Amino acid sequence: MLSKLLRKRQPVITSDLTKRKELAQIEQLPAHIAVIMDGNGRWAKKRSLPRIAGHYEGMQTVRKITRFANDVGIKTLTLYAFSTENWKRPKKEVDYLMRLPEEFMGTYLPELIEQNVQVQMMGNIDLLPDHTKRAITKAVEKTSHNDGLILNFALNYGSRDEIIQSVQQIVNKVQLGTISCDDITEDLISSHLMTKDLTEPDLLIRTSGEIRLSNFMLWQLAYTEFWFTNTLWPDFDEACLMDAIESYQKRNRKYGGLREEDVEKK
Ligand code: FPP
Repeated sequence: MLSKLLRKRQPVITSDLTKRKELAQIEQLPAHIAVIMDGNGRWAKKRSLPRIAGHYEGMQTVRKITRFANDVGIKTLTLYAFSTENWKRPKKEVDYLMRLPEEFMGTYLPELIEQNVQVQMMGNIDLLPDHTKRAITKAVEKTSHNDGLILNFALNYGSRDEIIQSVQQIVNKVQLGTISCDDITEDLISSHLMTKDLTEPDLLIRTSGEIRLSNFMLWQLAYTEFWFTNTLWPDFDEACLMDAIESYQKRNRKYGGLREEDVEKK
């Protein structure tokens, strides 16, 4: 129904974009890009549509950006699809958001499989409705042997919640005597987070002009490069992703140290 209301947009990869992609591939690409997909509601409001129309269009952007990120050679794409705080929204909106994984996988799972994409999820899956759980679990299972882009959905995810869980697991191990307090290192904490099998994000993108983290990957983003844009998520396209990647490639990541040429020689 919504799809009929909304204009169908086919992916348009211009030769300019192809050129930009090829140039970016010569340089070091961000291996892991994390995205706070924001602005669906405002996109809909601008068009006098219900908020859920913005989420539907946002889902189309997920498809487009996943395809392009995979094509560029990004290894991991983490998308913040539903936070532990999003339950506070009106029931109608929450119910719709919980239907989106089903809708998305129902339509695009064959395409994801064909594109060698591996679907993963981080967040508290137990609290999701059964139909959402089923859609995600099926997608994770069916793509588990793929070794292309990891498409990691943060769903019912909250970073503080994740940190609490990791602290509880670690304290438990200390109490059982499996590890001692001295064993608690950055690596140990990282290995108890929901991202334990992933690299840390190299680039964080937030759309819609908001400049905050909203309880997203607080530990993992310690040395990540940030890129904010006023573009609303449903309007975010391949060229926007290239803008972010090109900006990343101009940055000078020092991780608190110095570049070789900045070290003063005696
Ligand atoms: C924030 O925008 C966006 C969300 C809470 C939902 C994001 C979900 C999608 C983009 C679709 C996910 C797709 C799949 C397949 C799970 P907002 O609604 O808060 O925007 P606003 O600030 O303009 O109101």
